[in-house]
Amino acid sequence: MKEIQLHDKKFVPYIDKESIDNAVKKLAGEIKDYAQNEPVVFIVVLKGSYIFAADLAKHYSGEAVFEFYRLKSYEGTGSTGEVKIIVDIDDELVKGKKLIVLEDIVDTGNTLEKIIEELQAKQPESLKIATLFYKPEAYKKDYPIDFIGMEIPNKFIVGYGLDYDELGRNLPEVYRLKENRMIDLILFGPPGAGKGTQAQILKDKLGLTYIATGDLFRHHIKNKTDLGVKAQAYIDRGDLVPDEITIDMIKEIIADPDARGFIFDGFPRTVKQAEVLDQLMADKDLIIDALLSINVPEERLIKRLLERGKTSGRSDDNEETIKHRLDQYHTKTEPVKDYYKAQGKLYEIDGVGSIDEVNQRILDVISNIKLREK
Ligand code: IMP
Ligand code: MG
Repeated sequence: MKEIQLHDKKFVPYIDKESIDNAVKKLAGEIKDYAQNEPVVFIVVLKGSYIFAADLAKHYSGEAVFEFYRLKSYEGTGSTGEVKIIVDIDDELVKGKKLIVLEDIVDTGNTLEKIIEELQAKQPESLKIATLFYKPEAYKKDYPIDFIGMEIPNKFIVGYGLDYDELGRNLPEVYRLKENRMIDLILFGPPGAGKGTQAQILKDKLGLTYIATGDLFRHHIKNKTDLGVKAQAYIDRGDLVPDEITIDMIKEIIADPDARGFIFDGFPRTVKQAEVLDQLMADKDLIIDALLSINVPEERLIKRLLERGKTSGRSDDNEETIKHRLDQYHTKTEPVKDYYKAQGKLYEIDGVGSIDEVNQRILDVISNIKLREK
């Protein structure tokens, strides 16, 4: 499975055949348990449910009749809110029967509401709803859904009967819409350069995911995780936390499929880490677009860090550790700049000025960066 194109949009693999198959089998079993030995009428909602209904039929061992109902509500990748019946079902086919509606997907619930209204008017004995996919975040109705194959986040999907403007229904697995790529960047500079402050603002303004190794360490240390206990000893000495510890923490975050557009702060700190980061990103089909280096003269840095030490309560903001951290920065971390410079990704930013001034310089630089396609 790999990326595909339907009309103007790209889609990426999302749910494999086996997971779909398991969900369908589970539903068939649950419906059979509910029906006991009584016959049911499956109302197949077209077009989307045709593959789902066919597969469910193969796994359904009880007595069942299949009727087909055709509705339309979606245009492109959004619900229109208005649901039309295109092919209806005769009243006598459902009157007094045990109905099970087979939906491919329940999104806002508009379609479902319309189906329920229409079918109730035909006076069935009972009416239950089964859907293969369900988007709880999008669902706006109160009507309970009796059988759910799989809950999914509020993303647009295609395949296994579901379409994007009629294409994609015949894909045997499910793909999801590929979102526009967001910038992935490294905020770089010596301790005290204002990386954290700037990253926080960028995160809010651009909707990026902020990964600050300092915060990660403090979080792990505070919660006394295994990684945290190990990291503590190094930080107390003003030493760099070993790569494996940092990398494990970073991996965890990049793995989150909903986290996008990363700002790295405090990582990579060594060329070796930079190489690992490039690989981790490549594994997820991502790429670092830029390293923004915030430049501040050394005397100012020391002054700023001592100030921060008075209020931050950070164990590492004292003169001795500050000097040590700056030394480490020059010897181990600065080469990272050259590493990304060689890739044509280095952008230098003057870090002297107010927070807003520096932020504006960063935004100007970002707006001129052309995102790379991996
Ligand atoms: P609802 O009325 O908003 O619940 O949407 C239900 C109908 O919209 C479904 O029967 C589908 O035809 C379509 N739909 C909803 N979400 C998706 C999706 O992610 N991909 C493709 N079609 C969808
Ligand atoms: Mg449908």
